[in-house]
Amino acid sequence: MRRTVALAFSGGLDTSVCVKWLQEKYDMDVVTVTLDLGQRDDLHEIEKRSKLIGAKNHYTVDAKAEFLKDYVLPAVKANALYEGKYPLSTALGRPLIAKKLVEVAEMEGATAVAHGCTGKGNDQVRIDVTVRAMNPSLQVIAPVREWNMSRDEEIIYAQKMGIPVKPSKSIYSVDQNIWGRSIESGPLENPDTEPPSDAFEWTSSPEDAPDEPGYLELGFQEGVPAKVNGRSMEPLKLVTYVNDFAGSHGVGRIDHIEDRLVGIKSREVYECPAASVIIEAHKDIEKLVLTRHELDFKAHVEREWAWLVYSGLWLEPLRLALDRFISATQHRVTGSVRMKLFKGSAWVVGRSSDYSIYNVDLATYSRSSTFDQKSAVGFIELWGLQSRVAAGLNSQVEEKKENGHPRTKAKKAQ
Ligand code: ARG
Repeated sequence: MRRTVALAFSGGLDTSVCVKWLQEKYDMDVVTVTLDLGQRDDLHEIEKRSKLIGAKNHYTVDAKAEFLKDYVLPAVKANALYEGKYPLSTALGRPLIAKKLVEVAEMEGATAVAHGCTGKGNDQVRIDVTVRAMNPSLQVIAPVREWNMSRDEEIIYAQKMGIPVKPSKSIYSVDQNIWGRSIESGPLENPDTEPPSDAFEWTSSPEDAPDEPGYLELGFQEGVPAKVNGRSMEPLKLVTYVNDFAGSHGVGRIDHIEDRLVGIKSREVYECPAASVIIEAHKDIEKLVLTRHELDFKAHVEREWAWLVYSGLWLEPLRLALDRFISATQHRVTGSVRMKLFKGSAWVVGRSSDYSIYNVDLATYSRSSTFDQKSAVGFIELWGLQSRVAAGLNSQVEEKKENGHPRTKAKKAQ
């Protein structure tokens, strides 16, 4: 019996060529799988294309709600920014793509899964590792990693195999989902070149953004963004709204040098309006309601969480354990944050919460403060105790050195 492979299919040139190549080189039936992660593609068009190229079956999986609930919201609670900048939009989508591929493969009785990732990036690692953790009996095939064809060779192969090749709309390599848009290649490969304006689709350039600032009030419920300007919204609607609103103010462009898992440094450009604004607001409300100790420790956990997700270890038990810690910190993260957006910038201008630890009576410099300033004296006495003792000992050491400390003498004699 002919074996079957489930292929993650975007409808682009790479994965279209993959269909034929798997049929030809591996002698397999190909079932294609396309996830809707909010990437704004024409999913009917992709399905039609899959059939046209000759896939045995095609699945369109609406995974938006699952993506938000199980991947994006944990990332919000974790303030997840890889290397302090990247909200992990592509990285969060990959393990879910792998999960759905495995599910379809199992449904179809397939012996393998396949994807169109190259051997130079992080995405291959994220998909391979997740598939193998979920079902070690499935073979993972990555044709692009094996065939070593240039883009022109791919086009020739496609024409030879009767695959219709659409003229490429863009010189960029783009991956997008509801949490953001990753833009690579073309002129962006020179890290010293400003991204041309045609690289961006979700954000207007700050120069063209409205001349009046916009305000956005985000309400959080136990760490989850749940309200916009006082109105309750479910996550998909909320993230879509914030993407559009922040994008229209030119907010959410990210340009940084990133360390890929495979050792390559790359110049990465992203548009993540909702992610940038929501994480900034979430961090701010946390500073209002969490203690210094919680914030301090959580920052370490956040860094580790982002690293595990970036590096493809979504199913690593440590990530799950860190998620439990993070969730435990979110019970008081309820309240609202008001942001001002203006020509590419977004900043917090107000916040409030029933769980605020900020106490105006304590903080105020006015006479009415309930903070007893005299108690600071005893605190300072004890706070500096060890530093004081150590400083005293240091000055004794210095004195000994100047008066001919034995070690100093011995060195001089050499
Ligand atoms: N550097 C980002 C990441 O590793 C984005 C990758 C974009 N992938 C793509 N196929 N264009 O998550």
